[in-house]
Amino acid sequence: MKLFLDTAVIDEIRIVHSWGVLDGVTTNPSLFAKAGGGTYEEVLEEICTITSGPVSAEVVATDLEGMLSEGRKFAKLAPNIVVKVPMTETGLSAISAFAEEGIKTNCTLIFSTAQGLLAAKAGATYLSPFVGRLDDIAQDGMDMVRELAALLMVQEMDAEIIVASTRSPRHVVDGALAGATVATVPFKVVQQMVKHPLTDKGIAQFEADWAKAQAELVK
Ligand code: E4P
Repeated sequence: MKLFLDTAVIDEIRIVHSWGVLDGVTTNPSLFAKAGGGTYEEVLEEICTITSGPVSAEVVATDLEGMLSEGRKFAKLAPNIVVKVPMTETGLSAISAFAEEGIKTNCTLIFSTAQGLLAAKAGATYLSPFVGRLDDIAQDGMDMVRELAALLMVQEMDAEIIVASTRSPRHVVDGALAGATVATVPFKVVQQMVKHPLTDKGIAQFEADWAKAQAELVK
């Protein structure tokens, strides 16, 4: 499974990249607003200097011409830019136009298997089912990922599933087991994936035993 960082914060991207586990980045207007640090284009260009993996840049226009013009501009910023398009009727038209132009897309805000099927048919490179937001309204987000993965396999469709709106390490693991090929994960959740209290306890124990052994040597 590939790991994308769901952020527009440059320092977070640098840190996870330095661990050797970063495969790409997804951004959206909310993440950009939270991060600041220049225009959206400047931030995207900087992200693309850190990772050569796919970097999703989301259009904000709601009309077709606007989506196409924003997406084409993003695609010119770097070869690894993927244009993120919301799951709407107009979004589907934009996705299919981008596919014809050879521009990769990530269909975002997917909340049902039917939506995922349409996006895959339109030619989306990536499908982003939002599991956390479905869980928030007391539905099982992972069920959708499981069903969508099965559907893509049975129908021999090429789109990749990005398990999105992840809120915990469990979402990442369950997404991988459900058949998503990518998880996009907030920095905090990646940090949680690293941590385990027994690892910390084990390190503290090794340090204490080592210090004891050194003290014995100098006696
Ligand atoms: C995906 O690409 C989105 O940016 C993201 O996963 C949304 O997550 P949220 O529901 O935590 O905002």
